[in-house]
Amino acid sequence: MVLIARHFSAICIFDSMPDEQLISSEDNSLESRLTEVFEHHQNGYYDRAEFHYRELIEQYPGIWQLYFNCGLLLFELGRYEEALDFYLGGLAINDSSEDLLYNTGICQKELGRFEEAIASYQRALEVAPDDIDCHYNLAGCYRFLGEDDKAAHIYASILAHTPTHLPSLNNLAYLTHKHGENERARELYERILELNPEHASADHMRAALSGEARNHSPNGYVREVFDQFAGHYEASLTDNLGYDLPSELLNIYLHLLPGGRPQRLLDLGCGTGLVGEQFCSLCQSMTGVDISRKMLDVAHEKKLYNYLHVSEIIEFLRTDPETNYDLIVCADVLPYLGDLEELFNRVSYIMATHGHFMFSVEHFSSDADSPVLQQSGRFAHSGCYVFDTAARAGWNIISQTLLNLRKEREGWIQGSIYVMSLAPVK
Ligand SMILES: C[S@@+](CC[C@H](N)C(=O)[O-])C[C@H]1O[C@@H](n2cnc3c(N)ncnc32)[C@H](O)[C@@H]1O
Repeated sequence: MVLIARHFSAICIFDSMPDEQLISSEDNSLESRLTEVFEHHQNGYYDRAEFHYRELIEQYPGIWQLYFNCGLLLFELGRYEEALDFYLGGLAINDSSEDLLYNTGICQKELGRFEEAIASYQRALEVAPDDIDCHYNLAGCYRFLGEDDKAAHIYASILAHTPTHLPSLNNLAYLTHKHGENERARELYERILELNPEHASADHMRAALSGEARNHSPNGYVREVFDQFAGHYEASLTDNLGYDLPSELLNIYLHLLPGGRPQRLLDLGCGTGLVGEQFCSLCQSMTGVDISRKMLDVAHEKKLYNYLHVSEIIEFLRTDPETNYDLIVCADVLPYLGDLEELFNRVSYIMATHGHFMFSVEHFSSDADSPVLQQSGRFAHSGCYVFDTAARAGWNIISQTLLNLRKEREGWIQGSIYVMSLAPVK
C-alpha cells in the first residue's frame, strides 16, 4: 500500500495570488526573480532554487505559495523535516489551502507521524470533501497504524463513489484477504482483473483463492509485495510473527558442521539481510540477491554483504559467472518461487563440491508431487516433491528439521529446513 503522492507542481505565484497580494510596481524585480527560481527548480538546480526561495521568503514573508514551493523542493530532496517546516509556515498564513494540507500530510506520513498526517488529511477534507486522493491517503495512514477496519471502511466508501479506483480495490482486497474473508477477497481480485487484465498480483491472488494450479509467482507480484513491506518487514516478522528462521539456520549449520567457516556465502532472496546478520562472523565473503530493491536498500544499510544484486534468483543463477560458493541459503524464499527444478539444478552448478545448500519450505499436508499454491498466495512443498526434485538434480539430503516458521492469525505455519550437499552422505 503506497500513499498517492500528488505533490502538485510548483505554484505560479502570479496566477494564484489574491489581488491584495499582487506585486506592486515597486517590486517589479520580483517577477523576474520568481521566473528565475521556478526555472532553477523545474530544471533540477535545487541548490540555487532553495537559496532563492529562502531569500524571497525573507523578503516577502506573507506569500504562502513561496513556503509551498520551497517545501516541495525540500520534499523532492528527501529533506522531509525541513519540508514540513515550510508547509507549516505556509499554513500559518493560509490554513485553508488544500494543496498545503495535502502535502503536509504526505510529509508527516514520510516522517512516521501518522496521527498528525491523519489530522492534516481530515482538515484537507473539510476544505475539499470530494478529494479522492485525500480519502485514499487517510486510509493509508490508518493502515500504517494497524487500524485496518477504519482503512477498509474508507476504501469501500471511495469505491462506492468511484468503483474503478484500482488502488482502493487493491488495498481492500488485501485487507479482506488478510482478515480471512477469502470469498470476498477473490471477488475483489476479479474486479481488479476486469479493469486491468494484466494485473499480475491480482491474477496470482485470484488463482490462489480459487485453488488454481500454478508453478511460480509473477516477478511483479513478489517485487510489489516486498517493496511495500520493506520498511516494516523486520518489526513485523521478528517482533510480531515470531520469525526466527535465520538463527535456526545458523544453529543447524553449526550443529552439522561444528567450527564450520564458509568462505563464500550466497544468500538467495536475502531481503533485509537477517541471514547475513547471523552468518557474517563466520564468512569471509557474503553475496545477497533479491528481486526487491527496497528490501536490499535495508540490507545495504547494514554493510554486511560484500555484494548485493537486485535480481530475480533464477535470472541471477543463469547469468552469475561466480562458482564455488560453499554455503548457499534460501530462507523463507521458496514459498514465493514455486517450482524448484531449475533452482536445484542451477545451484548445483555453482556450489563447491564440499558445499551446503540450506533452505526452508512451508508444509502441505498431502504428498503432492508438485508445488501447491495455497490460499495465502505462497507455495507449499511436500517432502516427496523436495526429495524427488533434489535427487534428480544430484543432491543428497543431509538433514530435514521440522519447525514452526512464523505465526499466521491464530496458529503457526509449519515447515522444514533442509540441508543438502552434492557430496555423498557418509
Ligand atoms: C520472506 S522474505 C525472506 C527474506 C530473508 N531471506 C529473511 O530470512 O529475512 C522473502 C524474500 O525473497 C525475495 N524473493 C522472493 N522470490 C524471489 C525471486 N524469485 N527472486 C529474487 N528474490 C525473491 C523477496 O523479495 C523477499 O525479500
